[in-house]
Amino acid sequence: MTGLKPLIAGNWKMFGRRADIAEISAVAQAAHEFAAALEVAVCPPAGLLSLAVAAADGQIAVGAQTVDARADGPHTGDISAAMLADLGARFVIVGHSERRADHGETDMAVAAKAAAAQAAGLTPIVCVGESLAQRQAGQAEAVVRQQMQASLAGLARQPLVLAYEPIWAIGTGLTPSGEEIAAIHACAGACLDEQFGPNHGVRVLYGGSVKPGNAGAIFKIAGVDGALVGGASLKASDFLAILRAHPVIATGM
Ligand code: PGA
Repeated sequence: MTGLKPLIAGNWKMFGRRADIAEISAVAQAAHEFAAALEVAVCPPAGLLSLAVAAADGQIAVGAQTVDARADGPHTGDISAAMLADLGARFVIVGHSERRADHGETDMAVAAKAAAAQAAGLTPIVCVGESLAQRQAGQAEAVVRQQMQASLAGLARQPLVLAYEPIWAIGTGLTPSGEEIAAIHACAGACLDEQFGPNHGVRVLYGGSVKPGNAGAIFKIAGVDGALVGGASLKASDFLAILRAHPVIATGM
């Protein structure tokens, strides 16, 4: 933890139907429990954004999962940052490893998307993280540092959130040890200081198999300002259990 207000964001990925919007309503209805201490966001697929914003009812934030870097124009199938802002989104995940893998998004493309998000008043949640081979080769810190330098190039220091998501921990049930997470978050913090100067206020989330059972321990790790939660954000019961596990709620810290 740092002194910054923790952010816990749910990434629904390509899951969800209109009926699942009830899960967002349930989280929003419990917001009185955590709203003062935590910032909470849910990022459903683009087609559900409007419904999600209505269900969130201003109690929690809604985010998108990607954005096109360009302004409105003849780009069939793409969505601009201004469109997402117009729909009521406040955040957008950028450079998730699944997008880097599925769509060949480079660090340079990620930086351009994040800049477009900032220009539209959205907060980009920029994702970085090493592969298993890179971790086993002892390159995790170097990979994260290099991704941060390139993926955050040219961005304003705010509004901005970074998510450290080791690729091998996403959807696998595996997580790094507390020491390993702390080491990367310390490295990311130093890198942010170098890129944006001290007191930049950029929160660094951990993501990768965060569940109700491990969230409390992860939130206590030095330098962890919250989480980006995939599978466990789809059901309000799981997501609320994760929110309630944060020390600021669980113990009033
Ligand atoms: P997971 O996904 O929590 O299902 O591992 C995290 C993410 O990809 O953001």
